[in-house]
Amino acid sequence: MAITPMSALRLRGKRVLIRQDLNAPTAPGKSGEVAITSTQRLDSALGGARLAMDAGAKVMLMSHVGRPREGGRDPALSLAPMAKYLGDKLGREVRLCDDYLQHPPQPADGEVVVLENVRFNRGERADDPDLAKSYAALCDIFVMDAFGAAHRKQASTHGVALHAREACAGPLLLAEIDALSKVMDAPRRPLVAIVGGAKVSTKLSALKSLASRADCLIPGGGIANTLLKAAGHAVGNSLTEPALLDVARELLHENKTGTRECTMALPEDVVVAKSISPEAKGEVKPLGALADDDIILDIGPASIARCQKLIASAGTVVWNGPLGMFELPAFAAGTESLGRAVAASSAFSVAGGGDTLAAAERFGLGAQLSCISTGGGAFLEFLEGKTLPALAALEARGH
Ligand code: 3PG
Repeated sequence: MAITPMSALRLRGKRVLIRQDLNAPTAPGKSGEVAITSTQRLDSALGGARLAMDAGAKVMLMSHVGRPREGGRDPALSLAPMAKYLGDKLGREVRLCDDYLQHPPQPADGEVVVLENVRFNRGERADDPDLAKSYAALCDIFVMDAFGAAHRKQASTHGVALHAREACAGPLLLAEIDALSKVMDAPRRPLVAIVGGAKVSTKLSALKSLASRADCLIPGGGIANTLLKAAGHAVGNSLTEPALLDVARELLHENKTGTRECTMALPEDVVVAKSISPEAKGEVKPLGALADDDIILDIGPASIARCQKLIASAGTVVWNGPLGMFELPAFAAGTESLGRAVAASSAFSVAGGGDTLAAAERFGLGAQLSCISTGGGAFLEFLEGKTLPALAALEARGH
C-alpha cells in the first residue's frame, strides 16, 4: 500500500505532530553551553516544519538526541539548542515543552513547539504501546519525517504511526526514500558504490547487497583492508575485522563468479605510517611492499587516478564512508579527491553517514551532490535492502 504524503492532507487548524531527526552533533561551547557543531540535520528538517507552519497547523516537533537513560533528564541531551536554532531559522519563537505527556501543549494555529527528547520517556526504545498511544493522543495527524531514525522500531517512530488518527510521511523522508530508491531500483548505469570508513562489521552487509546491484565497488578504510587481507595481501598493522574475513572472501568469490559483472576496485597502492598522529608522515607504497608495522591510512595516487576515471564515467554514485583518515591532512587525499570527483561528475549522487557528511562538509562538496542523506544507520539498512520499521508502519496506514 502506498504511503500517504503530508502534502495530501489538509493541515489548517489541525494538531500536527512531526517526528524529526534533530539529533545534531554537539560539543561544549565557550561558556560551557551545549553548542551545535553541524546544522545539516536541522537545516534538512526545516522544510517539513515550515510547510506545516505556513499551512496554519498547530505544529509539534519531536525527536531524540543521543542515547540517554530513560526516565532521567540529561541537560547535555536536551533539545533546547535545537529549538533555539529552528526558531532563529523560522523567524519566530519556538517553545520547548518538557512535560508534554502530563500537560499536552496547545500551540496556536501556525505556532511551532518542540517536545523534549523522546528518549527521556520510559518505554520509548521498547516501542511501548501505551507511550505510543500517549504520543498519538497529542495530535490529529502524525507525520514521520525522520529518515535518520526510520530504522528504529520505537514508540515515536513506529508505534505512534499505528495509533494516530492519521499517519503520513513528511517531505524529507519522501525525498530521501526517492533518492535511495533511484540508486537501488533503477540506477542510471554504471552504478558506482564507494563504501569506506572504520566500522567494518556494520558495512560489510551493505557492501554485499551493493555488490549484486553495482557495476563497480570502490572499498576504502577498514573494509578495503579486510578485503585486501582476505585476498591474500599483507596489510601490516592496519585496521581489519578478522571475524569477517570469511564473509570478505565470500564477497570476493561471488564478485568473480556472479552473474552481474562488478568491478571491485581494490587499492593497488596505499599511504602508510607507523603510527596514527597529527605528526605522522605518510609514505606511498604499492601493495606487496608493506612492512609488518605499516598502518594503511589512505589509498595511494595510482588508486586515486583509477577511481577518478571510474567515477567520471558513472551514471549513479552512492557514497558511504571515507577512504582514509581524512581528519589528518597527510591522509586526506583519497577522500578529498574521490569526493571532488563525485561532486564534479554528472552522475546522480547520494552520500550518507556521519563521517561521509563530515568529509563532504570539510571539503565543501555538499551543494554539488544530488542528495545528502540525513541517515547513518538508516542509510546503511536501506542499502542492505532491509525493511525500515517506520516505513512499514506508514505503509500499513496508507490510504
Ligand atoms: C543517527 O544518528 O544515525 C540517528 O539519529 C539515529 O540515532 P540512534 O542510532 O541513536 O538511534
